[in-house]
Amino acid sequence: MFRSLPLLGTLIATSLALDSSPLELRLPHLHHLRQLSQHSFEVESATFPVYNLSVPIDHFHNESRYEPHTNATFGLRYWLDTSHYRPGGPVFVIAAGETDGSDRIPFLSQGVVTQLAAAYHGVGLILEHRYYGESYPFANLTTENIRFLTTEQALADYAYFASNVVFPELEHLDLTAATTPWIAYGGSYAGAFVAFLRKLYPEVYWGAVSSSGVTEAIIDYWEYYEPIRLYGPAPCISALQTSVDIVDRILIDHADNTTLAAQLKSAFGGIAPSLGNQDFVSYLSYGLDSFQSRNWDESVGTPLFRAFCNNITESQLLYPGTTDPISTSVKQLIEIAGYSDSNTTLVTNFLNWIGFLNTSEVFANSSSTESSSTADFSTPQPLTKSSGTSWNYQVCVEWGYFTTGSSVPSTIQPLISRLLDLPYLSSFCASQFGISTPPDVQRINQHGGFNFSYPRVAIIGGLADPWRDATPLADGVDWESRNSTDSEPVILLDIPAADVWDGVRGAVHHWDQNGLSKQESKDGNKAPKEIVSVHKEAVRFVGVWLGEWKSSAVDEEKLYQTVL
Ligand SMILES: *[C@@H]1O[C@H](CO)[C@@H](O)[C@H](O)[C@H]1NC(C)=O
Ligand SMILES: *[C@@H]1O[C@H](CO)[C@@H](O)[C@H](O)[C@H]1NC(C)=O
Ligand SMILES: *[C@@H]1O[C@H](CO)[C@@H](O)[C@H](O)[C@H]1NC(C)=O
Ligand SMILES: *[C@@H]1O[C@H](CO)[C@@H](O)[C@H](O)[C@H]1NC(C)=O
Ligand SMILES: *[C@@H]1O[C@H](CO)[C@@H](O)[C@H](O)[C@H]1NC(C)=O
Ligand SMILES: *[C@@H]1O[C@H](CO)[C@@H](O)[C@H](O)[C@H]1NC(C)=O
Ligand SMILES: *[C@@H]1O[C@H](CO)[C@@H](O)[C@H](O)[C@H]1NC(C)=O
Ligand SMILES: *[C@@H]1O[C@H](CO)[C@@H](O)[C@H](O)[C@H]1NC(C)=O
Ligand SMILES: *[C@@H]1O[C@H](CO)[C@@H](O)[C@H](O)[C@H]1NC(C)=O
Ligand SMILES: *[C@@H]1O[C@H](CO)[C@@H](O)[C@H](O)[C@H]1NC(C)=O
Ligand SMILES: *[C@@H]1O[C@H](CO)[C@@H](O)[C@H](O)[C@H]1NC(C)=O
Repeated sequence: MFRSLPLLGTLIATSLALDSSPLELRLPHLHHLRQLSQHSFEVESATFPVYNLSVPIDHFHNESRYEPHTNATFGLRYWLDTSHYRPGGPVFVIAAGETDGSDRIPFLSQGVVTQLAAAYHGVGLILEHRYYGESYPFANLTTENIRFLTTEQALADYAYFASNVVFPELEHLDLTAATTPWIAYGGSYAGAFVAFLRKLYPEVYWGAVSSSGVTEAIIDYWEYYEPIRLYGPAPCISALQTSVDIVDRILIDHADNTTLAAQLKSAFGGIAPSLGNQDFVSYLSYGLDSFQSRNWDESVGTPLFRAFCNNITESQLLYPGTTDPISTSVKQLIEIAGYSDSNTTLVTNFLNWIGFLNTSEVFANSSSTESSSTADFSTPQPLTKSSGTSWNYQVCVEWGYFTTGSSVPSTIQPLISRLLDLPYLSSFCASQFGISTPPDVQRINQHGGFNFSYPRVAIIGGLADPWRDATPLADGVDWESRNSTDSEPVILLDIPAADVWDGVRGAVHHWDQNGLSKQESKDGNKAPKEIVSVHKEAVRFVGVWLGEWKSSAVDEEKLYQTVL
């Protein structure tokens, strides 16, 4: 599904980075599909030396939730780029967030942090988050030893790191936060993370850029699909709404007629007939869910959303071999759902949707379906070490973000089935971790939530970002009267459809973080002017922050020593 392009490795790695945000980790059973589309590419990314710093597993011996406590340490991994560094320069930290830190390498080799490091002769680095990649405190993960995976512990790691690290290539220098300004950059979960980092450790982190930072933890996050509904291509959104409604009318209005449900599922083929109603409808968001992985850089963003829309709005039958045999049955279902089976547009849209899901192997038997265990959680259960496991745990403990269809107000036609409710979407918390209480979102929202604000924290977002309604730029939050200042820049990216290669207006998830590679620039590729200007603006306001740094005397002394 990706065209062959120069620098493919780097580009694919970037798309992995963009992919690995909370949404994709939301529906574990769709993981096999992502893997399907990526397995054949080799990641030949830019190489940076990788190190680790030993940090305490437990920073909070006063908090009972971490009992039994431990004094043990573990290696927190980081990738270091000193190529721009000159003595006296600052340190720029890319917070890796909820993924393997290596997925963020393209953000170190190109993009806004690279520009910052180059402009101010700084050290650039990616710092992995505990319990991701290779930064696990324990050799084997269990439902008991995953208890140290909380946002506050991870934030304390980052503070400890900046206060204690000695960079292997620069051992002769003290680059800790006591003598050097540290600026953190993060997107998505990591965007909220760096905002909190600055607020909780103001003496350690001099500034932070929070892009698409989800500062408000929300249990029932039905608003996820609102920006897609509002800014997605209208014919595509409307076709999807109708098709989803047909499914819901059958499964909800005729809930007692199991023959009809079976007829519907067998039209979708594959393993669909073997699935319960809620499992079945959860697969139907395939294609739609790729919206947030779009990017202004055509070689980085997924083309899947555009393909999905083209499929479900195409006026010709695209997959007659698959759908001709079921078309009589499907027309009957459409009629029973209350729509007209003589409306060929509607029938064709629905059949092309089925064909699209079939050709994408959404209902293929991956035979890796995780059984919902009925484990006895009074003893520690083994867990698979993966980003999916770790993010799921964070979701269950303190973040939420269950993207329901059931809570969409009745005045809005949803993009996903109304059968997707909170008990269903959160059921893995009990089956995977034995957690039966709702996430304690107050542990996150005590830092300010929608109202988050702090000196030298920049808030950047995208108009069409599905995560915007969990950020300070959410609809209904009066962020415009906050007034962007050099200390607290507030930037909402809105790129006209004509300036985005796939023709969809807005900007999605941390679109300011990536940049063109040298090769892409050489090939004459250009970023939209809104991206160029947000990069320039970030370099400008971070420059203002660095100008406020207190101990210039210390810097000069250091510079002198280095020259000697
Ligand atoms: C951390 O770095 C040390 C060397 O400093 C190395 O021996 C160790 O294997 C590393 N640990 C991890 C988990 O990478
Ligand atoms: C534990 O210590 C931290 C500061 O290190 C403090 O913020 C927190 O309130 C303390 N918790 C308890 C339960 O005393
Ligand atoms: C950690 O070390 C401190 C100081 O040596 C000690 O008082 C404490 O009991 C230790 N805690 C644990 C859980 O081992
Ligand atoms: C981790 O699990 C493996 C395989 O089950 C086992 O061989 C190993 O001893 C375990 N390691 C620890 C530290 O428990
Ligand atoms: C289920 O619906 C079909 C089609 O409307 C109808 O023929 C059948 O009688 C219904 N079955 C039950 C048990 O209501
Ligand atoms: C999926 O494959 C497994 C293993 O081959 C088989 O046991 C199972 O019945 C299949 N499921 C469906 C729904 O076809
Ligand atoms: C339909 O979707 C498939 C799979 O993503 C894609 O390859 C194809 O180009 C799309 N067809 C149209 C007409 O857009
Ligand atoms: C897709 O459709 C073909 C018929 O064209 C069928 O053989 C196959 O089982 C379907 N696969 C899935 C996953 O629905
Ligand atoms: C047919 O269905 C389409 C898509 O739902 C709708 O926009 C259109 O108005 C319908 N046409 C008629 C004649 O009802
Ligand atoms: C956020 O700020 C607004 C306006 O100042 C205020 O009305 C609202 O109560 C605040 N919300 C929270 C959760 O602090
Ligand atoms: C924002 O600027 C306007 C116009 O200068 C001013 O009236 C308003 O008080 C400012 N808002 C804040 C929160 O400072």
